[in-house]
Amino acid sequence: MVTGANSGVGRSAAELLAAAGASVVMVCRSEERGRAALETVRMGSSNSRVRLEVADLSSLDSVRDLGSRLRDRVGPIDVLVNNAGVYRARREVSEDGFEMTMAVNHLGHFVLTHLLLEPLAEAGGRVINVSSDGHRSGDLKRAPLEDILTGRIPFKGLQAYADSKLANVLFAFELSRRMGHAGLSAAALHPGVLATRIWNQNLNPLSLMMRLFKPFMKRPSTGGHAVCRLAVEHPADEIDGKYFHVEKKSKAADQAYDLELAEKLWIESARLTGVT
Ligand SMILES: NC(=O)c1ccc[n+]([C@@H]2O[C@H](COP(=O)([O-])OP(=O)(O)OC[C@H]3O[C@@H](n4cnc5c(N)ncnc54)[C@H](OP(=O)(O)O)[C@@H]3O)[C@@H](O)[C@H]2O)c1
Repeated sequence: MVTGANSGVGRSAAELLAAAGASVVMVCRSEERGRAALETVRMGSSNSRVRLEVADLSSLDSVRDLGSRLRDRVGPIDVLVNNAGVYRARREVSEDGFEMTMAVNHLGHFVLTHLLLEPLAEAGGRVINVSSDGHRSGDLKRAPLEDILTGRIPFKGLQAYADSKLANVLFAFELSRRMGHAGLSAAALHPGVLATRIWNQNLNPLSLMMRLFKPFMKRPSTGGHAVCRLAVEHPADEIDGKYFHVEKKSKAADQAYDLELAEKLWIESARLTGVT
């Protein structure tokens, strides 16, 4: 199962998994973009066991709907790739009142993962969080965690993105500690600096500059391959609780190893989203 599967890293990962013969669920926000991507992935892989589920990761209701649909429709889940992501230069607020970057990149995936813990554990499955090396600029200690998670602090787009990507790593590591006994593994990765649509989302100087550099960036498939290596190629015990820089094991930022912070993030994310 891959979120944000109609574009960039997620689409490439879905293509590669489908080509390898997996049953793939593509989770996409837009029915139209999702259908177009689904057709391409099915045709390119000659695999008809690829399907679309539409859900908006920024909406808790939409994520909960997806969770209950999936519990009825799919059996054990081998791999959940929490990939969908946004970078917003201007502050936006989700329908649940959270700052949009944190809502999509962390909170939505936090809830989705919890809703799928049973089918994941049933398969001895893996959760792969697509983070970013940008998480190294994240700082989840500079203000009360609740204020950072909800966005009730002065907004800076890059800081919000970095914070959300640090949350991706902390969440993967904590998931590995908490769910290891149930046979579930979790890892986080930086997929590379890639020419994807994430750089088209804003008209700020950074995004415009990154767009200029797109011809020199690596293709989304670099990230897709890196995801697939963690998802299916490496033995689970080699990836569990680890951070990868594309395909190489790497040390994450110091805060990613802060056990107290990881536990606080888990508890606060659960409280804010109503996860029990
Ligand atoms: N590209 C890079 O250089 C780079 C570097 C480091 C990390 N990353 C990470 O890689 C991941 C994938 O990004 P990408 O580069 O492949 O960008 P992308 O091409 O823009 O893909 C992002 C995907 O996320 C989906 N998405 C956005 N908001 C959503 C929502 N509310 N609900 C459901 N899906 C939503 C998008 O759907 P729509 O098509 O509907 O917008 C799209 O399918 C992100 O987590 C990003 O942080 C990328």
